[in-house]
Amino acid sequence: MPNQNSYNIVLGVNIDHVASLRQSRLTHYPDPVHAAYIAEMAGADVITFHLREDRRHIQDRDVALLKQTVGCRTNLEMAVTEEMLSMALRTKPDDCCLVPEKREELTTEGGLNVLADPDKIREATLRLTEEEIRVSLFIDPDPEQIDAAVKCGASAIELHTGTYAQLRGEPREKELHRLMEAADYADNQGLIVNAGHGLDYSNVSALAAIPQIRELNIGHSIIARSIFTGLESAVYEMLKLIQDARK
Ligand code: PXP
Repeated sequence: MPNQNSYNIVLGVNIDHVASLRQSRLTHYPDPVHAAYIAEMAGADVITFHLREDRRHIQDRDVALLKQTVGCRTNLEMAVTEEMLSMALRTKPDDCCLVPEKREELTTEGGLNVLADPDKIREATLRLTEEEIRVSLFIDPDPEQIDAAVKCGASAIELHTGTYAQLRGEPREKELHRLMEAADYADNQGLIVNAGHGLDYSNVSALAAIPQIRELNIGHSIIARSIFTGLESAVYEMLKLIQDARK
């Protein structure tokens, strides 16, 4: 049966690349905590950050300070490892998005393969959920992965939009259709449906128009634009595109 559900959509601003710039010179600036404050003042609903195992951008100190200073929701992206689970259980972000992680990758390439290790993901989900942290699994728009996410007890998924962002023309339209079907299917399974990766000012509107999607997490394009326009304006412009797509 076609799904008629439609929700408000919110923007999560990923501030990792403010930290990338800082770490490139090992200075104390620019500070992602400062960026989070400006993004929140500009209307961001969620502040998202990825603590990678190699600490290439966000540092442990950032996670602790962000949790203490951010007024809106905090969303910690992390690999499913004991080290990251301990960090999350200690700092208690509002949301945890479980992602795959390879040290050699430039950024998160591809979604989590929930089918490959469901026991590990289920256990991590349970431990986080017990502490009232909302767990989202970052997965490709694949019904089998969605079913596996439900079985793991996750309350949310984040659909990986990286392939959509990279493609052009008809292949992009096909991937968009796949994302639409996945969002509808997951919503019907009772999951909260978020999306993100590779979204920018030119490709976000089609994604934001999908009525089941409740949150978009966007980083690189917003931080890149902020160099020229300032962060407040970069966040505001993205928010406007997203909200306009829902009208
Ligand atoms: N969502 C997830 C799960 C991610 O891993 C990332 C990248 O850290 C993003 C969203 C944001 O991607 P981008 O920086 O390409 O906007």
